Amino acid sequence: MAEIMAILPIIEAPDPRLKTVSKPVDTFDDQLKILVHDMFETMYDAHGIGLAAIQVGIPLRLLVIDLQPEDEDAEPEPCDHDGHHHHHQPTKKEPRIFVNPEILDPSAELKTYQEGCLSVPDIYADVDRPAMCRVRWQDLDGNVHEEQMDGMMAVCIQHEMDHLNGVLFIDHLSRLKRSMALKKLEKARKAA
Ligand code: NI
Repeated sequence: MAEIMAILPIIEAPDPRLKTVSKPVDTFDDQLKILVHDMFETMYDAHGIGLAAIQVGIPLRLLVIDLQPEDEDAEPEPCDHDGHHHHHQPTKKEPRIFVNPEILDPSAELKTYQEGCLSVPDIYADVDRPAMCRVRWQDLDGNVHEEQMDGMMAVCIQHEMDHLNGVLFIDHLSRLKRSMALKKLEKARKAA
């Protein structure tokens, strides 16, 4: 497969496509692999930690996550062209792919995190979610996996799962806070 990657445009709120309930993936072919490659490229380019397919306009139950905090000083490869030896560590990537993910047994215990979203740029707000959950998903070959998630991974996967059901993190806020967030977004868009 040719390594031609594409950075895809990210859909932003209040685009109605973000309210789509995405359909299950039923074909595990090269096209799916290319889409996943492109989603990672798009997510890394936008400095995000998670991306659902619907955020690039594809209504499939598919998401990519990489929680590795990016290191702004990191360079792709060490350089010593000027005679100095630099110890730049390349960013260690931990890409994870979830096809047809399902949340099982969310914990009663909740945890609050400040969330943001590539489709709701520059808006951050506290959201309560189950602190832990089991996740079942398929990989790119259709094999089924299950894993207990907690911490940032639990937050991120629940946030991304919401996208597959047409829900944004701001939909978890009070009506007042949500309308304030949307107004701020509109204002920023007009200013840009
Ligand atoms: Ni999001």
